[in-house]
Amino acid sequence: MKNENEIAIQKLNDIDIPYETKRQILKDLSKPYFEMFLYYECAIKEVETKLEILDKEYSMDSELNPIDSIKSRVKSLESIIDKLIKKNAPFSIESIEKNVRDIAGLRVICNFPEDVYKIRNGLLKQDDVTLIEEKDYIKNPKENGYRSLHLIIETPIYLSTGKKLMKVEVQIRTIAENFWASLEHQIHYKKNINYDKDIIDDLKKVAEDSAKLDLKMQQLKKRIYDVTEKED
Ligand code: GTP
Ligand code: MG
Repeated sequence: MKNENEIAIQKLNDIDIPYETKRQILKDLSKPYFEMFLYYECAIKEVETKLEILDKEYSMDSELNPIDSIKSRVKSLESIIDKLIKKNAPFSIESIEKNVRDIAGLRVICNFPEDVYKIRNGLLKQDDVTLIEEKDYIKNPKENGYRSLHLIIETPIYLSTGKKLMKVEVQIRTIAENFWASLEHQIHYKKNINYDKDIIDDLKKVAEDSAKLDLKMQQLKKRIYDVTEKED
């Protein structure tokens, strides 16, 4: 017994089926995927708004914005397929939703280390945000030196048909952690090349040095703000 998709694909190869019918078949086959990407785009918007509101609110108290910038992306179909193959999972909407949790991804770049946790806590406190998984590579850096806080959260989007829970990956890190991660990503990450140990050691050392700079800048900020508060 052939399933619906197999029958549709067979029709596409049938020369007796008219062009318009084939066009409709292809549209019907791809519609759920277009919908899926749209839902993830909506989920990004929802979470981005939450983050922007938190940033504004915190900056009212201290005049300092915890967030420097936010970047977002919807994972490409190609990367989704790669992940499914790696996981030996089938290609279907259900399988994608189950196996790929970072289709909607946001990267939040914070100014100071303490801001990372301010944003994390502010986000997770919200009624409609559920934490699915947390990896704290700041408290426990990866062996290569990578530092960043990764959250997989679930949050609703509201459609005409009702609400739909969506998974979103939120990476929160400082400017200094992002400087290291962005450059390391370009020159090294997932390149599948065996580098000399001293290259790996040097990269790790740069990560450690920039973590020290991060803390120094945070201490400087505190000293400056303590003085200003006393003067006020
Ligand atoms: P992926 O299959 O890559 O998504 O990894 P994962 O599902 O095991 O999750 P993890 O939280 O460890 O990493 C997710 C994402 O964090 C990656 O897609 C990268 O964007 C980033 N990341 C993780 N490790 C590194 C690293 O060593 N260097 C850099 N530059 N980025 C990293
Ligand atoms: Mg990923």
